[in-house]
Amino acid sequence: MGAASSPDVVVHRDAELLAQAVAARFLTRLVDLQSGGRIASVVLTGGSIAISIYAAVAASPTRDAVDWGRIELWWGDERFLVDGDPNRNATQAGAALLDVVPLNLDLLHPMPAAPRVGVGDPEAAAEAYARELASASRPGDHARVPAFDLLLLGVGPDGHVASLFPGHPALHDERAVAAVRAAPKPPPIRLTLTFPTLARARETWFVVSGADKAPVVRSALSGAGRLQVPAAGVTGQRRTRWLLDKAAAAQLPSDLARTTLR
Ligand code: 6PG
Repeated sequence: MGAASSPDVVVHRDAELLAQAVAARFLTRLVDLQSGGRIASVVLTGGSIAISIYAAVAASPTRDAVDWGRIELWWGDERFLVDGDPNRNATQAGAALLDVVPLNLDLLHPMPAAPRVGVGDPEAAAEAYARELASASRPGDHARVPAFDLLLLGVGPDGHVASLFPGHPALHDERAVAAVRAAPKPPPIRLTLTFPTLARARETWFVVSGADKAPVVRSALSGAGRLQVPAAGVTGQRRTRWLLDKAAAAQLPSDLARTTLR
């Protein structure tokens, strides 16, 4: 098992194969977690590669090996838009996967939506989600948020992760959840888990595709600071994986891209 300081890096031929391979890993991980008899907690991400992974999970015959009623789902970030807006990460994940598997809705934790178009208080919404996390925390977690089994994270070409953008105040926020205003990627108002909360995952998988990410993937894996490259600031407590396509891995030193699967 790779320690947090030495992440596993796996490179696949292209985005489609990456999505298929991560979907297979994801299903296997869920089955393994559930074989211990407990509810598995997962933090989902948005972004195009994540949605492709969710669609591949939905299309896999192996999906029925998972007890979807015993999966607790959280979000790493959300676009602060009205419920059902097609640009919400939750809406996209719903269409790709969550609407087609038999989830226990009591264990589904979408981030709050804006009450009306262009209206709402993202700071209050961030506090509400922090309370929801706190109420799911168990004494053994020793924290105000639960220990997540698995955290999925996309990475933007600027190095952002969840909605932690370079230069933004949320990078310094010690609360569990932060509101983000004036995000450089639309929509401008967002909610995000903060670094202390993202650090609570036992296992963290970065899923990254595309040549535009190659410079930040190299920086994140070469010791960049988290204020410049926020993705560099998140590691799993037990394991960190970078699951890449060849284009995203193109600038990695060869000793870092240890495994290339065709
Ligand atoms: C968002 C997305 C975003 C995404 C990355 C990677 O809220 O805007 O969640 O953070 O995860 O930008 O996106 P791609 O997978 O599309 O490259």
